[in-house]
Amino acid sequence: MKAEIAPSVLSFNHAEIRPRVQELAEAGAQVIHLDVMDGQFVPPITFGDGLVKGLTDIPGPLYEAHLMIVRPEDQVERFVQAGCRRVIFHAEATVHAHRLVGHLHSLGVQAGVAINPATPAQAVSEVVGIADMILVMTVNPGWGGQKFIESCLAKVETIRSWNPSIRIEVDGGIDRSTLPRAKGVGADLFVVGSHLLDYPSLGQAVRELSALCD
Ligand code: DX5
Ligand code: ZN
Repeated sequence: MKAEIAPSVLSFNHAEIRPRVQELAEAGAQVIHLDVMDGQFVPPITFGDGLVKGLTDIPGPLYEAHLMIVRPEDQVERFVQAGCRRVIFHAEATVHAHRLVGHLHSLGVQAGVAINPATPAQAVSEVVGIADMILVMTVNPGWGGQKFIESCLAKVETIRSWNPSIRIEVDGGIDRSTLPRAKGVGADLFVVGSHLLDYPSLGQAVRELSALCD
């Protein structure tokens, strides 16, 4: 599968998320990453399905919800109805990851399972055969702009060795130097948040970072 970036809206002024997503879509972004936080699984609260619904009519990208919430099984249908074609939940947030992957498939969307830096790759060993994606957090979730945690790369390599075709996404501290290193060990989807703002325009960020994926 072609490697791609997944720009995150987390670092934008939240009052301006829609025009920023329009810019990203016009620049050719194939995936938009939407960080949903509930103040329980992680301390901050970001936004819910209402805001997501106000974005997904912008044509072009696939919209993915990264649910950093407790009891994700209670919420996934809202995000599917809001237009997300992929829903990612945390392995640490549910005792029924296998069932939730199946439920997402029955709703007609892709299922991603995320693991925090403290969670071993083995936590997803029983779902790599059924999930569409594993998200390896490369920072502790909750905030943009944190430093990439090097030791998480080994987990990407391990999961890739189990399944050569599954999507493996990395999230946290991804920039023009860490992206190629994560790609080198088998990641093929790269969430980029605060680093987008290091470029003169979002269009240039999408073009230059996408070129690193080729
Ligand atoms: C962090 C979020 C990330 C965040 C990444 O909890 O899951 O998606 O947007 O931000 P950066 O790229 O700044 O680390
Ligand atoms: Zn995220």
